[in-house]
Amino acid sequence: MRKILVTGGAGFIGSNFVRHLLHTYADCQIVVYDKLTYCGNLDNLQDVAERFAGRYTFIQGDIADAAAVGAAMQAHGIDVIVNLAAETHVDRSLMEPDAFLKTDVYGTYVLLEAARQHGVERYHQVSTDEVYGEIPPGYRSLETDPVRPRSPYSATKTGGDLLCLAYHNSFGLPVTITRGANNIGPYQYPEKVVPLFITNALDDQPLPLYGDGRQVRDYQYVLDHCEAIDLVMRHGRPGEVYNVGTGHETENIVMAHAILDLLGKPYSLIRSVADRPGHDRRYALSVDKVRALGWRSSHSFQQAIEKTVRWYVDNEWWWRKLKSGAYLDYYRQWYGQRLAEADRP
Ligand code: NAD
Ligand code: TYD
Repeated sequence: MRKILVTGGAGFIGSNFVRHLLHTYADCQIVVYDKLTYCGNLDNLQDVAERFAGRYTFIQGDIADAAAVGAAMQAHGIDVIVNLAAETHVDRSLMEPDAFLKTDVYGTYVLLEAARQHGVERYHQVSTDEVYGEIPPGYRSLETDPVRPRSPYSATKTGGDLLCLAYHNSFGLPVTITRGANNIGPYQYPEKVVPLFITNALDDQPLPLYGDGRQVRDYQYVLDHCEAIDLVMRHGRPGEVYNVGTGHETENIVMAHAILDLLGKPYSLIRSVADRPGHDRRYALSVDKVRALGWRSSHSFQQAIEKTVRWYVDNEWWWRKLKSGAYLDYYRQWYGQRLAEADRP
């Protein structure tokens, strides 16, 4: 039986990935290792804990804590590490970069060392298209392109990627990396734009759209991304990077309109607010390499956004309690002034 340590497994993509693995493979044993920061949440894994109790273990711990990581590896005889633990929100990286350095760079180093000491079959790093930086119209990033991160978040994710490649090169560690485009779907913390806009719209609250809203993202359904991570973890070549996305571009204003249309809410809820400093205008990936491994994205943007909106409508129990306490302090700090000064587009 393969024993897989999924770090960050109580987060958005991590919990969807764990669910995918347990439903797909009858012979895998999953150990989720997660610090449970503000966006880690055991509610994300409630169904998994009930249904797969014999094949699922949860450990609360920090990936930057070498002793705790080592103990988890030893206790469970781990064969594979998939690292999804990270600080992930660009806006928070502009407010308080410290935790991004500790988790996304130093934490990755701790996991790589543990992987080396325990001789794992595979170490898989889940990374982001943001490491390539802002991409000019008409171009798509290739895995061989230079990295040009422009935010503290993307800079620390890049640091993690480069360490992974260095551990492959220097020590022969069997490392693979996926660089995914923006994910949407169930269990995404409502600071990210899609769940923020859906839950605000459900409450008839304004949707704070940065700048002119013409920035371009490739919004992919989270389960498509999870399938790609699984495929690369199993069949990707050690030392290689694989981009993962649909190849379809959507402007933020179009995404906002799609959400409001699906909810039957007026476009007048959109507020054009002061832009994110250093905002990358466009990301776009070439995904030929992961397609050559046999992966295809199964959801169009419209299918992905429909499923996502439906999930938040049906699962108010999950998100309502998150939008309280420290979340509201963050919301006021980041959006208070922006919304007070906002125009309708
Ligand atoms: P998330 O913020 O929803 O979850 C992150 C998880 O990591 C949380 O459960 C949190 O508790 C845990 N965590 C944070 N610091 C930790 C630490 N020091 N030790 C142990 N656990 C810790 O993030 P997500 O959106 O699920 O992203 C997962 C990974 O995928 C990240 O590496 C992110 O960079 C990458 N990624 C995300 C997207 C996206 O659109 N969300 C796109 C591409 C890549
Ligand atoms: P986000 O979900 O933060 O992901 P990322 O910045 O990592 O791509 O943001 C997605 C896009 O939405 C990005 O172009 C910034 C924009 N955005 C807004 O317009 N308003 C918001 O309140 C947020 C959080 C993001």
